[in-house]
Amino acid sequence: MFALVRRSLVAEAVVKNGPALMSISNITTITQDLVKFERPPGPKQWPLLGCLPSILTNKAFDKERIHLFWNDCVKQYGPIFQLRVPGSPTMNFISNIEDIEKMYKTTFDNPIRPIADSFKVANQRCPSKFYKEGEYGLLNEQGDNWWRVRRQVQPHTMKPAVVAQYLPGMDQISKEFVERVKNQRDDNSEVHEDFIKEIMQWAVENVGLISYNKMIETTEEKQELIKAADTILGNIGKLEYGLQLWRYIQTPRLKETMQARDFMRRKIDKSVLQAKESLEEDDLSNKNMNILEELLKTPELSHRDIVMFMLDFNMAGADTTAYTVSFVMYLLSINPEKQAILHQELDKVLGDGTGELTPAHLAKLTYTKAVVKETLRVFPVAMGVVRQLNNDEVFSGYKLPKGSLMFAMEYPNCYNEKLFYKPKEFLPERWFRSRPHGPIQNYASFSFSRGTRSCVGRRVSEQEIYTIIARLFHQHTLEWKYEKLNPKSHLLLHPDLPLKFTMKEREKQNV
Ligand code: HEM
Repeated sequence: MFALVRRSLVAEAVVKNGPALMSISNITTITQDLVKFERPPGPKQWPLLGCLPSILTNKAFDKERIHLFWNDCVKQYGPIFQLRVPGSPTMNFISNIEDIEKMYKTTFDNPIRPIADSFKVANQRCPSKFYKEGEYGLLNEQGDNWWRVRRQVQPHTMKPAVVAQYLPGMDQISKEFVERVKNQRDDNSEVHEDFIKEIMQWAVENVGLISYNKMIETTEEKQELIKAADTILGNIGKLEYGLQLWRYIQTPRLKETMQARDFMRRKIDKSVLQAKESLEEDDLSNKNMNILEELLKTPELSHRDIVMFMLDFNMAGADTTAYTVSFVMYLLSINPEKQAILHQELDKVLGDGTGELTPAHLAKLTYTKAVVKETLRVFPVAMGVVRQLNNDEVFSGYKLPKGSLMFAMEYPNCYNEKLFYKPKEFLPERWFRSRPHGPIQNYASFSFSRGTRSCVGRRVSEQEIYTIIARLFHQHTLEWKYEKLNPKSHLLLHPDLPLKFTMKEREKQNV
Protein backbone atom coordinates (compact mmCIF):
# COMPACT_ATOMS: atom_id res chain seq x y z
CA MET A 1 0.00 0.00 0.00
CA PHE A 2 2.65 2.49 1.10
CA ALA A 3 4.90 1.54 -1.78
CA LEU A 4 2.09 2.43 -4.17
CA VAL A 5 1.42 5.79 -2.53
CA ARG A 6 5.13 6.52 -2.58
CA ARG A 7 5.51 5.60 -6.25
CA SER A 8 2.72 7.93 -7.31
CA LEU A 9 4.11 10.77 -5.18
CA VAL A 10 7.53 10.34 -6.76
CA ALA A 11 6.03 10.30 -10.26
CA GLU A 12 4.16 13.51 -9.47
CA ALA A 13 7.32 15.19 -8.21
CA VAL A 14 9.33 14.15 -11.27
CA VAL A 15 6.68 15.56 -13.59
CA LYS A 16 6.70 18.86 -11.70
CA ASN A 17 10.47 19.19 -11.40
CA GLY A 18 11.85 17.60 -14.55
CA PRO A 19 14.22 14.69 -15.28
CA ALA A 20 17.12 16.07 -13.24
CA LEU A 21 15.32 14.58 -10.25
CA MET A 22 15.66 11.04 -11.47
CA SER A 23 18.74 10.16 -9.38
CA ILE A 24 18.10 7.64 -6.59
CA SER A 25 19.13 9.98 -3.78
CA ASN A 26 16.89 12.73 -5.09
CA ILE A 27 13.99 10.34 -5.36
CA THR A 28 14.57 9.23 -1.77
CA THR A 29 14.58 12.82 -0.56
CA ILE A 30 11.43 13.70 -2.44
CA THR A 31 9.68 10.55 -1.22
CA GLN A 32 10.66 11.39 2.32
CA ASP A 33 9.55 15.00 2.07
CA LEU A 34 6.16 13.99 0.80
CA VAL A 35 5.43 11.41 3.46
CA LYS A 36 3.74 12.84 6.56
CA PHE A 37 4.90 12.18 10.10
CA GLU A 38 2.95 9.25 11.42
CA ARG A 39 3.24 7.23 14.59
CA PRO A 40 4.22 3.62 13.85
CA PRO A 41 1.81 0.91 15.03
CA GLY A 42 2.16 -0.71 18.41
CA PRO A 43 0.24 -1.66 21.53
CA LYS A 44 -2.55 0.77 22.45
CA GLN A 45 -1.30 3.87 24.27
CA TRP A 46 -2.95 5.84 27.11
CA PRO A 47 -2.20 9.36 28.29
CA LEU A 48 0.55 9.27 30.94
CA LEU A 49 0.67 5.46 31.04
CA GLY A 50 1.77 5.01 27.45
CA CYS A 51 1.43 1.38 26.39
CA LEU A 52 2.29 0.01 29.82
CA PRO A 53 -1.24 -1.39 30.48
CA SER A 54 -1.26 -3.08 27.04
CA ILE A 55 2.17 -4.56 27.64
CA LEU A 56 1.38 -5.83 31.13
CA THR A 57 -1.83 -7.49 29.99
CA ASN A 58 -0.27 -9.02 26.87
CA LYS A 59 0.12 -12.80 27.19
CA ALA A 60 3.43 -12.69 25.31
CA PHE A 61 4.92 -10.30 27.86
CA ASP A 62 7.45 -11.83 30.20
CA LYS A 63 9.53 -9.23 31.99
CA GLU A 64 12.40 -11.70 32.14
CA ARG A 65 12.29 -12.28 28.37
CA ILE A 66 11.56 -8.97 26.76
CA HIS A 67 13.01 -10.19 23.45
CA LEU A 68 10.12 -12.65 23.09
CA PHE A 69 7.64 -9.83 23.54
CA TRP A 70 9.43 -7.86 20.81
CA ASN A 71 9.20 -10.92 18.52
CA ASP A 72 5.49 -11.09 19.21
CA CYS A 73 5.12 -7.39 18.37
CA VAL A 74 6.81 -8.00 15.00
CA LYS A 75 4.17 -10.66 14.27
CA GLN A 76 1.34 -8.37 15.38
CA TYR A 77 2.42 -4.99 14.05
CA GLY A 78 4.92 -5.73 11.29
CA PRO A 79 8.46 -4.49 10.61
CA ILE A 80 8.15 -1.27 12.61
CA PHE A 81 6.42 -0.69 15.93
CA GLN A 82 6.61 1.81 18.74
CA LEU A 83 6.70 1.30 22.49
CA ARG A 84 6.13 4.17 24.90
CA VAL A 85 6.54 3.38 28.57
CA PRO A 86 6.49 6.04 31.32
CA GLY A 87 9.93 6.79 32.69
CA SER A 88 11.70 5.49 29.57
CA PRO A 89 12.26 7.18 26.24
CA THR A 90 9.87 6.24 23.41
CA MET A 91 11.51 3.64 21.20
CA ASN A 92 10.81 2.66 17.57
CA PHE A 93 11.67 -0.96 16.87
CA ILE A 94 12.68 -2.02 13.36
CA SER A 95 13.42 -5.44 11.90
CA ASN A 96 13.32 -4.95 8.15
CA ILE A 97 16.85 -5.30 6.69
CA GLU A 98 16.46 -2.25 4.44
CA ASP A 99 15.37 -0.18 7.46
CA ILE A 100 18.31 -1.43 9.52
CA GLU A 101 20.73 -0.58 6.74
CA LYS A 102 19.11 2.84 6.44
CA MET A 103 19.41 3.43 10.18
CA TYR A 104 23.13 2.70 10.02
CA LYS A 105 23.74 4.71 6.86
CA THR A 106 21.82 7.80 7.88
CA THR A 107 23.57 7.93 11.26
CA PHE A 108 27.01 6.94 9.97
CA ASP A 109 28.64 10.36 10.43
CA ASN A 110 27.11 11.02 13.83
CA PRO A 111 26.06 7.75 15.47
CA ILE A 112 24.25 8.79 18.65
CA ARG A 113 23.52 5.92 21.08
CA PRO A 114 21.83 7.36 24.14
CA ILE A 115 21.89 4.26 26.28
CA ALA A 116 23.74 3.35 29.45
CA ASP A 117 22.80 6.84 30.66
CA SER A 118 22.89 5.41 34.18
CA PHE A 119 26.71 5.20 33.87
CA LYS A 120 26.84 8.82 32.84
CA VAL A 121 24.62 9.89 35.72
CA ALA A 122 26.66 7.72 38.14
CA ASN A 123 29.80 9.57 37.01
CA GLN A 124 28.14 12.99 37.25
CA ARG A 125 26.95 12.36 40.82
CA CYS A 126 30.19 10.78 41.97
CA PRO A 127 31.84 12.88 44.72
CA SER A 128 35.26 12.20 43.17
CA LYS A 129 36.72 15.17 41.32
CA PHE A 130 37.91 12.84 38.58
CA TYR A 131 34.94 13.13 36.20
CA LYS A 132 34.49 16.12 33.96
CA GLU A 133 31.45 17.21 31.91
CA GLY A 134 31.88 16.18 28.28
CA GLU A 135 34.45 13.49 29.07
CA TYR A 136 32.46 10.44 30.06
CA GLY A 137 34.08 7.94 27.77
CA LEU A 138 33.08 5.99 24.70
CA LEU A 139 29.98 4.30 26.02
CA ASN A 140 28.29 7.49 27.15
CA GLU A 141 29.56 10.34 25.01
CA GLN A 142 28.06 11.47 21.72
CA GLY A 143 29.09 13.61 18.79
CA ASP A 144 32.51 15.26 18.80
CA ASN A 145 33.21 14.25 22.41
CA TRP A 146 32.75 10.60 21.44
CA TRP A 147 34.63 10.77 18.14
CA ARG A 148 37.61 12.59 19.71
CA VAL A 149 38.35 9.43 21.75
CA ARG A 150 37.02 6.78 19.37
CA ARG A 151 39.26 7.82 16.46
CA GLN A 152 42.34 7.55 18.67
CA VAL A 153 41.57 4.21 20.31
CA GLN A 154 40.16 2.09 17.49
CA PRO A 155 43.34 1.84 15.39
CA HIS A 156 44.91 0.02 18.36
CA THR A 157 42.06 -2.06 19.75
CA MET A 158 41.20 -3.34 16.27
CA LYS A 159 44.78 -4.03 15.12
CA PRO A 160 45.45 -7.80 15.11
CA ALA A 161 49.17 -7.38 15.94
CA VAL A 162 48.38 -5.27 19.01
CA VAL A 163 45.62 -7.58 20.22
CA ALA A 164 47.85 -10.63 19.64
CA GLN A 165 50.17 -9.36 22.38
CA TYR A 166 47.55 -10.41 24.91
CA LEU A 167 47.36 -13.94 23.55
CA PRO A 168 49.89 -15.55 25.95
CA GLY A 169 48.05 -14.01 28.92
CA MET A 170 44.64 -15.06 27.56
CA ASP A 171 45.98 -18.54 26.94
CA GLN A 172 47.16 -18.81 30.53
CA ILE A 173 43.79 -17.57 31.85
CA SER A 174 41.92 -20.11 29.72
CA LYS A 175 44.20 -22.97 30.78
CA GLU A 176 43.72 -22.02 34.44
CA PHE A 177 39.97 -21.89 33.88
CA VAL A 178 39.94 -25.43 32.45
CA GLU A 179 42.04 -26.76 35.34
CA ARG A 180 39.86 -25.03 37.91
CA VAL A 181 36.50 -26.21 36.59
CA LYS A 182 37.84 -29.70 35.95
CA ASN A 183 38.83 -30.03 39.60
CA GLN A 184 35.44 -28.79 40.80
CA ARG A 185 33.42 -31.50 39.03
CA ASP A 186 31.21 -33.84 41.04
CA ASP A 187 31.22 -37.66 40.86
CA ASN A 188 29.09 -37.55 37.71
CA SER A 189 31.62 -35.26 36.01
CA GLU A 190 29.20 -32.34 36.22
CA VAL A 191 30.61 -28.87 36.69
CA HIS A 192 29.28 -27.00 39.67
CA GLU A 193 26.01 -25.12 39.91
CA ASP A 194 27.63 -21.67 39.69
CA PHE A 195 29.62 -22.44 36.57
CA ILE A 196 28.51 -19.14 35.03
CA LYS A 197 30.47 -17.38 37.77
CA GLU A 198 33.61 -19.22 36.66
CA ILE A 199 33.01 -18.01 33.11
CA MET A 200 32.45 -14.49 34.41
CA GLN A 201 35.70 -14.66 36.37
CA TRP A 202 37.45 -15.82 33.21
CA ALA A 203 36.01 -12.84 31.30
CA VAL A 204 36.91 -10.33 34.03
CA GLU A 205 40.47 -11.66 34.15
CA ASN A 206 40.78 -11.45 30.37
CA VAL A 207 39.57 -7.90 30.03
CA GLY A 208 41.68 -7.03 33.09
CA LEU A 209 44.77 -7.91 31.06
CA ILE A 210 43.99 -4.80 29.05
CA SER A 211 42.35 -2.41 31.48
CA TYR A 212 44.56 -3.20 34.51
CA ASN A 213 47.48 -4.00 32.19
CA LYS A 214 48.35 -7.15 34.13
CA MET A 215 47.26 -10.59 35.20
CA ILE A 216 45.10 -10.22 38.28
CA GLU A 217 47.19 -12.37 40.57
CA THR A 218 45.89 -12.56 44.12
CA THR A 219 42.60 -14.22 45.03
CA GLU A 220 41.69 -11.20 47.15
CA GLU A 221 42.13 -8.79 44.23
CA LYS A 222 40.21 -11.10 41.91
CA GLN A 223 37.32 -11.27 44.34
CA GLU A 224 37.22 -7.49 44.81
CA LEU A 225 37.23 -6.81 41.09
CA ILE A 226 34.72 -9.52 40.28
CA LYS A 227 32.41 -8.20 43.00
CA ALA A 228 32.62 -4.67 41.59
CA ALA A 229 32.00 -5.90 38.03
CA ASP A 230 29.14 -8.06 39.29
CA THR A 231 27.50 -5.11 41.06
CA ILE A 232 27.71 -2.87 38.02
CA LEU A 233 26.68 -5.47 35.46
CA GLY A 234 23.89 -6.76 37.67
CA ASN A 235 22.52 -3.25 38.15
CA ILE A 236 22.80 -1.81 34.66
CA GLY A 237 19.95 -3.84 33.15
CA LYS A 238 17.67 -2.95 36.04
CA LEU A 239 18.61 0.73 35.83
CA GLU A 240 18.26 0.99 32.06
CA TYR A 241 15.11 -1.10 31.66
CA GLY A 242 13.30 -0.39 34.91
CA LEU A 243 11.56 2.74 36.12
CA GLN A 244 14.26 5.38 35.71
CA LEU A 245 13.87 7.26 39.00
CA TRP A 246 17.66 7.53 39.20
CA ARG A 247 17.46 10.24 36.55
CA TYR A 248 15.91 12.51 39.20
CA ILE A 249 17.02 11.23 42.60
CA GLN A 250 19.89 9.22 44.05
CA THR A 251 18.46 5.70 44.29
CA PRO A 252 20.31 3.06 46.35
CA ARG A 253 20.98 1.07 43.16
CA LEU A 254 22.55 4.04 41.40
CA LYS A 255 24.64 4.80 44.48
CA GLU A 256 25.89 1.22 44.64
CA THR A 257 26.76 1.35 40.92
CA MET A 258 28.54 4.67 41.38
CA GLN A 259 30.66 3.30 44.24
CA ALA A 260 31.59 0.12 42.39
CA ARG A 261 32.48 2.08 39.25
CA ASP A 262 34.63 4.49 41.18
CA PHE A 263 36.38 1.60 42.91
CA MET A 264 37.32 0.19 39.50
CA ARG A 265 38.23 3.60 38.21
CA ARG A 266 40.75 4.04 41.05
CA LYS A 267 42.33 0.65 40.28
CA ILE A 268 42.60 1.50 36.60
CA ASP A 269 43.96 4.94 37.41
CA LYS A 270 46.79 3.35 39.38
CA SER A 271 47.58 0.87 36.59
CA VAL A 272 47.67 3.63 33.98
CA LEU A 273 50.10 5.67 36.10
CA GLN A 274 52.33 2.63 36.62
CA ALA A 275 52.34 1.85 32.88
CA LYS A 276 53.23 5.46 32.16
CA GLU A 277 56.18 5.34 34.52
CA SER A 278 57.58 2.11 33.08
CA LEU A 279 57.08 3.41 29.56
CA GLU A 280 59.19 6.44 30.41
CA GLU A 281 61.94 4.15 31.72
CA ASP A 282 61.85 1.67 28.82
CA ASP A 283 63.86 1.77 25.63
CA LEU A 284 61.00 1.96 23.14
CA SER A 285 62.97 1.42 19.93
CA ASN A 286 62.17 -2.28 19.55
CA LYS A 287 59.13 -2.49 21.78
CA ASN A 288 55.84 -3.85 20.52
CA MET A 289 53.29 -1.74 22.32
CA ASN A 290 50.07 -3.06 23.79
CA ILE A 291 46.80 -1.09 23.76
CA LEU A 292 47.47 0.90 26.93
CA GLU A 293 51.01 1.77 25.88
CA GLU A 294 49.83 2.89 22.44
CA LEU A 295 47.23 5.12 24.09
CA LEU A 296 49.78 6.58 26.51
CA LYS A 297 51.86 7.57 23.50
CA THR A 298 48.92 9.40 21.90
CA PRO A 299 49.22 13.14 22.66
CA GLU A 300 45.55 13.77 21.78
CA LEU A 301 44.43 11.64 24.76
CA SER A 302 44.56 12.89 28.33
CA HIS A 303 45.14 10.72 31.38
CA ARG A 304 41.40 10.96 32.12
CA ASP A 305 40.49 9.92 28.55
CA ILE A 306 42.61 6.78 28.90
CA VAL A 307 41.26 5.86 32.33
CA MET A 308 37.65 6.40 31.20
CA PHE A 309 38.24 4.36 28.08
CA MET A 310 39.74 1.48 30.05
CA LEU A 311 36.81 1.60 32.45
CA ASP A 312 34.32 1.37 29.58
CA PHE A 313 36.35 -1.31 27.88
CA ASN A 314 36.24 -3.30 31.08
CA MET A 315 32.49 -2.81 31.52
CA ALA A 316 31.51 -3.53 27.92
CA GLY A 317 33.79 -6.51 27.63
CA ALA A 318 32.96 -8.78 30.56
CA ASP A 319 29.37 -10.04 30.45
CA THR A 320 28.96 -9.83 26.64
CA THR A 321 31.85 -12.23 26.17
CA ALA A 322 30.99 -14.41 29.17
CA TYR A 323 27.41 -14.97 27.95
CA THR A 324 28.59 -15.67 24.42
CA VAL A 325 31.01 -18.30 25.72
CA SER A 326 28.21 -19.86 27.81
CA PHE A 327 26.06 -20.13 24.71
CA VAL A 328 28.94 -21.57 22.65
CA MET A 329 29.39 -24.29 25.27
CA TYR A 330 25.68 -24.99 25.45
CA LEU A 331 25.12 -25.16 21.68
CA LEU A 332 28.09 -27.47 21.22
CA SER A 333 26.92 -29.69 24.08
CA ILE A 334 23.45 -30.13 22.52
CA ASN A 335 24.94 -30.64 19.04
CA PRO A 336 27.50 -33.43 19.57
CA GLU A 337 28.05 -33.94 15.83
CA LYS A 338 29.15 -30.30 15.53
CA GLN A 339 31.32 -30.69 18.60
CA ALA A 340 33.01 -33.68 16.91
CA ILE A 341 33.89 -31.51 13.88
CA LEU A 342 35.33 -28.92 16.22
CA HIS A 343 37.39 -31.60 17.98
CA GLN A 344 38.83 -32.68 14.65
CA GLU A 345 39.83 -29.14 13.79
CA LEU A 346 41.46 -28.58 17.18
CA ASP A 347 43.40 -31.85 16.94
CA LYS A 348 44.66 -30.90 13.52
CA VAL A 349 45.67 -27.36 14.43
CA LEU A 350 46.90 -27.78 18.02
CA GLY A 351 48.48 -31.24 17.77
CA ASP A 352 49.01 -32.55 21.28
CA GLY A 353 48.15 -29.12 22.66
CA THR A 354 51.24 -28.80 24.83
CA GLY A 355 52.61 -25.73 23.04
CA GLU A 356 51.70 -22.07 23.42
CA LEU A 357 48.70 -20.93 21.46
CA THR A 358 49.88 -18.54 18.72
CA PRO A 359 48.17 -16.22 16.23
CA ALA A 360 49.13 -18.76 13.54
CA HIS A 361 47.02 -21.38 15.34
CA LEU A 362 44.06 -19.04 15.66
CA ALA A 363 44.27 -18.14 11.96
CA LYS A 364 43.64 -21.78 11.09
CA LEU A 365 40.58 -22.27 13.32
CA THR A 366 38.00 -21.85 10.57
CA TYR A 367 35.32 -24.05 12.09
CA THR A 368 35.82 -22.56 15.55
CA LYS A 369 35.20 -19.10 14.11
CA ALA A 370 32.08 -20.33 12.32
CA VAL A 371 30.85 -21.78 15.64
CA VAL A 372 31.16 -18.36 17.28
CA LYS A 373 29.35 -16.56 14.44
CA GLU A 374 26.58 -19.14 14.49
CA THR A 375 26.26 -18.89 18.27
CA LEU A 376 25.83 -15.14 17.98
CA ARG A 377 23.12 -15.73 15.36
CA VAL A 378 21.23 -18.23 17.52
CA PHE A 379 21.69 -16.16 20.68
CA PRO A 380 22.53 -12.57 19.73
CA VAL A 381 23.60 -11.43 23.20
CA ALA A 382 23.29 -7.69 22.55
CA MET A 383 19.86 -8.28 20.90
CA GLY A 384 20.11 -5.12 18.80
CA VAL A 385 21.50 -1.64 18.43
CA VAL A 386 20.11 1.77 19.38
CA ARG A 387 20.48 4.97 17.40
CA GLN A 388 19.00 8.45 17.57
CA LEU A 389 17.98 9.95 14.23
CA ASN A 390 19.95 12.99 13.09
CA ASN A 391 17.25 13.94 10.55
CA ASP A 392 13.64 13.16 9.75
CA GLU A 393 13.67 9.73 8.08
CA VAL A 394 11.16 7.27 6.61
CA PHE A 395 11.20 3.65 7.81
CA SER A 396 8.81 1.12 6.30
CA GLY A 397 6.63 3.99 5.13
CA TYR A 398 6.50 5.82 8.49
CA LYS A 399 8.18 9.19 8.71
CA LEU A 400 9.86 9.76 12.05
CA PRO A 401 11.15 13.12 13.25
CA LYS A 402 14.78 13.97 13.94
CA GLY A 403 15.69 12.88 17.46
CA SER A 404 13.55 9.69 17.37
CA LEU A 405 15.10 6.66 19.00
CA MET A 406 15.46 3.53 16.89
CA PHE A 407 16.15 0.00 18.05
CA ALA A 408 17.36 -2.29 15.25
CA MET A 409 16.37 -5.78 16.41
CA GLU A 410 18.54 -8.79 15.71
CA TYR A 411 16.37 -11.61 16.99
CA PRO A 412 13.53 -11.65 14.41
CA ASN A 413 15.93 -11.72 11.46
CA CYS A 414 18.19 -14.37 12.94
CA TYR A 415 15.18 -16.73 12.95
CA ASN A 416 13.70 -15.64 9.63
CA GLU A 417 13.51 -18.50 7.11
CA LYS A 418 13.80 -16.05 4.24
CA LEU A 419 17.15 -14.94 5.56
CA PHE A 420 18.64 -18.12 7.02
CA TYR A 421 18.36 -21.71 5.87
CA LYS A 422 16.83 -23.79 8.70
CA PRO A 423 17.22 -20.94 11.20
CA LYS A 424 16.31 -23.06 14.23
CA GLU A 425 19.26 -25.36 13.60
CA PHE A 426 22.81 -24.80 14.75
CA LEU A 427 24.73 -24.90 11.45
CA PRO A 428 28.15 -23.27 11.85
CA GLU A 429 29.12 -24.20 8.29
CA ARG A 430 26.57 -21.71 6.94
CA TRP A 431 29.24 -19.07 7.66
CA PHE A 432 31.95 -20.69 5.51
CA ARG A 433 33.10 -18.47 2.67
CA SER A 434 31.53 -20.88 0.17
CA ARG A 435 28.14 -20.30 1.88
CA PRO A 436 26.97 -23.93 1.51
CA HIS A 437 23.48 -23.08 2.79
CA GLY A 438 23.01 -20.07 0.53
CA PRO A 439 24.02 -16.41 0.66
CA ILE A 440 23.67 -14.45 3.89
CA GLN A 441 22.43 -10.94 3.45
CA ASN A 442 24.24 -8.01 4.87
CA TYR A 443 22.61 -6.81 8.11
CA ALA A 444 20.82 -10.15 8.63
CA SER A 445 23.00 -10.70 11.69
CA PHE A 446 25.07 -7.89 13.20
CA SER A 447 26.07 -8.99 16.68
CA PHE A 448 29.05 -6.69 17.06
CA SER A 449 27.11 -3.96 15.24
CA ARG A 450 28.26 -2.13 12.12
CA GLY A 451 29.64 1.19 11.04
CA THR A 452 31.50 3.90 12.86
CA ARG A 453 30.24 2.99 16.32
CA SER A 454 30.47 -0.79 16.10
CA CYS A 455 32.03 -2.81 18.92
CA VAL A 456 35.53 -1.47 19.48
CA GLY A 457 36.47 -4.59 21.48
CA ARG A 458 35.50 -7.09 18.81
CA ARG A 459 39.02 -8.34 18.06
CA VAL A 460 39.77 -8.69 21.76
CA SER A 461 36.55 -10.55 22.37
CA GLU A 462 37.02 -12.93 19.45
CA GLN A 463 40.55 -13.75 20.53
CA GLU A 464 39.38 -14.49 24.07
CA ILE A 465 36.57 -16.73 22.82
CA TYR A 466 38.70 -18.69 20.34
CA THR A 467 41.27 -19.25 23.07
CA ILE A 468 38.87 -20.71 25.60
CA ILE A 469 37.17 -22.89 22.98
CA ALA A 470 40.56 -24.21 21.88
CA ARG A 471 41.73 -24.98 25.41
CA LEU A 472 38.49 -26.44 26.70
CA PHE A 473 37.38 -28.55 23.76
CA HIS A 474 40.80 -29.81 22.74
CA GLN A 475 40.86 -31.97 25.85
CA HIS A 476 37.18 -32.30 26.76
CA THR A 477 33.67 -32.98 25.59
CA LEU A 478 30.67 -31.21 27.04
CA GLU A 479 27.24 -32.79 27.39
CA TRP A 480 23.91 -31.34 28.46
CA LYS A 481 21.37 -33.42 30.37
CA TYR A 482 18.76 -30.83 31.25
CA GLU A 483 15.84 -29.11 29.57
CA LYS A 484 16.56 -26.62 26.81
CA LEU A 485 17.73 -23.12 27.71
CA ASN A 486 15.17 -20.38 27.29
CA PRO A 487 17.47 -17.34 27.69
CA LYS A 488 16.43 -14.32 29.70
CA SER A 489 17.06 -10.76 28.64
CA HIS A 490 18.13 -7.99 30.99
CA LEU A 491 19.93 -5.63 28.64
CA LEU A 492 21.81 -8.72 27.40
CA LEU A 493 20.62 -12.19 26.54
CA HIS A 494 21.84 -14.69 29.10
CA PRO A 495 21.29 -18.32 30.15
CA ASP A 496 18.28 -18.95 32.38
CA LEU A 497 19.44 -22.22 33.97
CA PRO A 498 22.51 -23.26 35.93
CA LEU A 499 25.05 -24.37 33.34
CA LYS A 500 25.59 -27.85 34.74
CA PHE A 501 27.54 -29.32 31.85
CA THR A 502 28.90 -32.81 32.05
CA MET A 503 32.57 -32.33 31.27
CA LYS A 504 34.50 -35.42 30.24
CA GLU A 505 38.08 -35.99 29.21
CA ARG A 506 38.21 -36.88 25.55
CA GLU A 507 39.42 -40.27 24.38
CA LYS A 508 43.07 -39.91 23.43
CA GLN A 509 43.23 -38.27 20.02
CA ASN A 510 45.13 -39.77 17.10
CA VAL A 511 47.29 -36.83 16.20
C1 HEM B 1 30.63 -11.29 22.13
C2 HEM B 1 31.01 -10.20 22.74
C3 HEM B 1 30.57 -8.80 22.38
C4 HEM B 1 29.47 -8.37 21.70
C5 HEM B 1 28.36 -9.21 21.09
C6 HEM B 1 29.54 -6.93 21.64
C7 HEM B 1 28.60 -6.14 21.01
C8 HEM B 1 28.64 -4.76 21.03
C9 HEM B 1 27.61 -3.93 20.48
C10 HEM B 1 26.34 -4.42 19.80
C11 HEM B 1 27.97 -2.64 20.70
C12 HEM B 1 27.16 -1.39 20.35
C13 HEM B 1 27.65 -0.88 19.05
C14 HEM B 1 26.80 0.22 18.45
O1 HEM B 1 26.15 1.00 19.16
O2 HEM B 1 26.81 0.31 17.22
C15 HEM B 1 29.24 -2.65 21.38
C16 HEM B 1 29.95 -1.53 21.76
C17 HEM B 1 31.11 -1.56 22.49
N1 HEM B 1 31.83 -2.67 22.85
FE1 HEM B 1 31.31 -4.60 22.47
N2 HEM B 1 30.66 -6.53 22.30
C18 HEM B 1 31.32 -7.63 22.76
C19 HEM B 1 32.51 -7.65 23.44
C20 HEM B 1 33.24 -6.55 23.78
C21 HEM B 1 34.53 -6.58 24.45
C22 HEM B 1 35.28 -7.84 24.87
C23 HEM B 1 34.91 -5.29 24.65
C24 HEM B 1 36.15 -4.77 25.30
C25 HEM B 1 37.21 -5.49 25.55
C26 HEM B 1 33.87 -4.44 24.10
C27 HEM B 1 33.89 -3.07 24.11
C28 HEM B 1 32.91 -2.27 23.58
C29 HEM B 1 32.91 -0.81 23.69
C30 HEM B 1 33.91 0.05 24.46
C31 HEM B 1 31.78 -0.37 22.99
C32 HEM B 1 31.33 1.08 22.79
C33 HEM B 1 31.84 1.56 21.45
C34 HEM B 1 31.44 2.96 21.08
O3 HEM B 1 30.39 3.44 21.54
O4 HEM B 1 32.19 3.60 20.33
N3 HEM B 1 32.88 -5.25 23.58
N4 HEM B 1 29.63 -3.96 21.57
